[in-house]
Amino acid sequence: MESWMQNSNGVFIDIHEELRGYSNVIRFLRIVEEKEGLLQYCNGNNSRGRLLFQIFSTEFIQSIADIITNAKGPILEVMAGDGKLGEFLGSRVDKEIIATDSKNYTYDIQYPDWILEYDAMQALDDFDPSVVILCWEPLYSDVGDRIAKSGHPLIWIGDPNRCAPKSGLLDREHIRMNSKYAIGRYDSIINKLYNTDIYLFNIDMKN
Ligand SMILES: C[S@@+](CC[C@H](N)C(=O)[O-])C[C@H]1O[C@@H](n2cnc3c(N)ncnc32)[C@H](O)[C@@H]1O
Repeated sequence: MESWMQNSNGVFIDIHEELRGYSNVIRFLRIVEEKEGLLQYCNGNNSRGRLLFQIFSTEFIQSIADIITNAKGPILEVMAGDGKLGEFLGSRVDKEIIATDSKNYTYDIQYPDWILEYDAMQALDDFDPSVVILCWEPLYSDVGDRIAKSGHPLIWIGDPNRCAPKSGLLDREHIRMNSKYAIGRYDSIINKLYNTDIYLFNIDMKN
């Protein structure tokens, strides 16, 4: 165990306190999984009580930044939750990122004031973004599918078995990034089981 991994009370740190490199993140999560389980950690058993869905690293964020870097116009994040994805991305791209969420308080998420309170489809109408980002849409949602159907470029992040699995989204034409940096709350670092990825809709990677 490395000293940075726990606070002075012996509690595992919140890995989203700051953006860390993938090798640190994966070493940390392996120890978390050995000691208490990844899901328990992601369900708030960490120094800030943070709920985690996708676990970010510098490399993962950079791969999203690379996709949006040439976008002309604002980037809209819907269902942004605690805003960490937008915050980390904002530090790596010189783009306006509008982060929105309906702030559904059935989730134990601390929504920062700067996250705009918006239903996802309403935000799409109001901001007419050049790219939409959606990370971990809920189980029974069809928002990702509706956005893809609308023709807007969509970067969808999540676990297809946990995030709107019945919406039909992945029946639509898409590019799967096969990101080696994607880590989700139901994964196992010890068993090398990774279920999440980045999926692109209405985005041509050749341009
Ligand atoms: C599983 S959380 C994911 C949060 C965040 N994207 C993340 O990865 O940590 C789903 C979020 O979607 C929001 N949400 C659910 N339905 C929504 C809707 N129709 N429009 C906007 N936000 C919605 C909830 O409030 C919640 O914050």
